[in-house]
Amino acid sequence: MLKINHIEKTFDNLVALANVSLNIEKGEFFGLLGPNGAGKTTLMNIIIGYLQPDIGTITVDDEIIMYEDLEMRKKIGYVPQDISLYLELSAYQNLIIFGKLYGLGKNELESKIDEVLELVQLTDRKKDLVKEFSGGMKRRLNLAVSLLHDPQILLCDEPTVGVDPQSRNAIFDMLTKLNQKGKTILYTTHYMEEAERLCSRLAIIDHGKIITQGTLLDLINQLDQKETIKIQKTAHTKDKIDSINNLGHVTEYDFYYELLPKEENSQHSTIFKHFETLNIPSQFIEISRASLEDVFLNLTGRSLRD
Ligand SMILES: Nc1ncnc2c1ncn2[C@@H]1O[C@H](COP(=O)(O)OP(=O)(O)OP(=O)(O)O)[C@@H](O)[C@H]1O
Ligand SMILES: [Mg+2]
Repeated sequence: MLKINHIEKTFDNLVALANVSLNIEKGEFFGLLGPNGAGKTTLMNIIIGYLQPDIGTITVDDEIIMYEDLEMRKKIGYVPQDISLYLELSAYQNLIIFGKLYGLGKNELESKIDEVLELVQLTDRKKDLVKEFSGGMKRRLNLAVSLLHDPQILLCDEPTVGVDPQSRNAIFDMLTKLNQKGKTILYTTHYMEEAERLCSRLAIIDHGKIITQGTLLDLINQLDQKETIKIQKTAHTKDKIDSINNLGHVTEYDFYYELLPKEENSQHSTIFKHFETLNIPSQFIEISRASLEDVFLNLTGRSLRD
């Protein structure tokens, strides 16, 4: 549905995007994960025709979006990274202004405003000035604005930055609901937990390049070490370490042993059977799968959080 074809963008000498291609299918919740300065916002701005790429094209349903193409922009809702609202006006007045910019008629606009306020749970605050809103409420109103013209595609640029956990969960629920109703979503974030939780497919971007893409499972399966098994160091497990060594490679840390099982022991059932014979209770064992942080580290040698 949304195709990003070989996009390149340079600012002076800085390559912000280098040959970026993505193909986002209708109804997908697609994540673009990358650290600060990776090029996420630049790509969003090119998709909505606000910035002109040096090379490459963007198409929606096979139609090219040209620079400053207002007609095509109607198919897209954009939730910008920086809150874009009139702080001195009420929530309702903001929605009227943006709705008129989208060319909505009076009746249509009134019913749409009711609908989006309901969705972002701000109906009872509609008359209040935006400057009196909390960070989370401003974010939710920012989202409401992007939905007024009922776009097929929603671009969300880090919509949870500076938001408390409760409001963040509310935003996640709203976006999931919109996706279930058929909206195609492109979501940028530098929080791997958000990408893991929300996105059916994702791409990781670093220094303007897409370094990998796929489902969470596809990305984790690229790793040699897909999961870690930790055995807590206790008076009870310490004298069993020689036998644990038989299961695979063991590294000793301050408070636990980390086991990388041999291929023939890779089934959890085999490992737990061994632990049972060794009389190591399951309460002392922790299995955790690799994360997108591990994928990023593996591909770049750096941490996503740096
Ligand atoms: N208008 C501009 N002029 C010059 N450089 C720019 C401009 N816009 C972005 N850049 C540079 O392009 C690179 C990518 O920036 P961009 O804002 O797209 O990153 P981002 O992934 O959105 O980062 P963040 O997570 O911090 O929002 C950065 O190095 C940034 O400094
Ligand atoms: Mg950004």
